Amino acid sequence: MGVTVGRTLAAAGHRVRWLAEGRSDATRQRAETAGFQRCDCLGALLDGSDTVVSVCPPAAAMDVAERVADAAFAGTYLDANAVSPDTARRIESLFGERLVDGGIVGPPAERPGTTRLYLSGPRARDLAGWFEAGPLTAVALAAPAGAASALKMCYAAYTKGATALLLAVRALAGAEGVAEALLDEWAISQPALAERSESAARSSAGKAWRFVGEMREIADTFEAAGLPGGFHRAAADVYQRMAPLKDRDAALNEVLSRLLSRESGG
Ligand SMILES: NC(=O)c1ccc[n+]([C@@H]2O[C@H](COP(=O)([O-])OP(=O)(O)OC[C@H]3O[C@@H](n4cnc5c(N)ncnc54)[C@H](OP(=O)(O)O)[C@@H]3O)[C@@H](O)[C@H]2O)c1
Repeated sequence: MGVTVGRTLAAAGHRVRWLAEGRSDATRQRAETAGFQRCDCLGALLDGSDTVVSVCPPAAAMDVAERVADAAFAGTYLDANAVSPDTARRIESLFGERLVDGGIVGPPAERPGTTRLYLSGPRARDLAGWFEAGPLTAVALAAPAGAASALKMCYAAYTKGATALLLAVRALAGAEGVAEALLDEWAISQPALAERSESAARSSAGKAWRFVGEMREIADTFEAAGLPGGFHRAAADVYQRMAPLKDRDAALNEVLSRLLSRESGG
């Protein structure tokens, strides 16, 4: 997703740099292909930069923000990660009004119209103007930092939560020996669910490892609002069991075997 954000900024004429320190070959290849300028240490990245954009696994978002704040960065900081509003507000405590809170909905964008970057905080409207060239569409919310993250949490709570539930139901039906009977009943009364569970397995298997942290951020968000967080703590456990399928395709049966194996992915 970092490449989508960077390409959109580059399309509008911004110079885009990336931090190579600690990153894998896969990230290096993506950044080089996109033509971003490589920086080998945080100091070099920040020197002369007026804005930092953080696009990383949600569990790393706070650490990345602290490193940038500790380096006395004085510019605008956009956190575009799937974190809870409380995490966004903790990041705000590092940057104050210089934080733009972000939340991305949609896949890495190849063309306009597929993917939105919601922004909130006092600088949201100004920063949204930087994305006008697309393909990523920026939407500034007239709301304080935390709102864009809250919106992302609500959106992913349903999409990724429902995916985890559907896969867990298929696994349970298999464990109880009623898989065929369930499919027969679905064919009558819920005709979309058989295909939806097949495509849920295909689309989430390789990425499940990184949904674990996002589900925990969502659970925290529910609990902070006085709502039950258990749905998404369980969804985190479902994705944790799928974590060994990292970065590869897997069909439904392999995903269901993983869910029933009781082995945690880490
Ligand atoms: N992909 C999507 O469709 C999508 C949609 C909406 C929102 N998002 C959000 O966008 C963010 C990134 O997701 P993604 O899909 O781009 O994930 P990704 O493909 O796994 O890429 C994450 C990037 O972060 C780097 N990274 C890993 N650990 C890091 C750390 N400790 N510090 C700094 N960088 C680190 C990774 O580098 P290595 O290669 O070295 O691991 C990689 O370049 C997440 O917050 C996610 O929720 C993604």
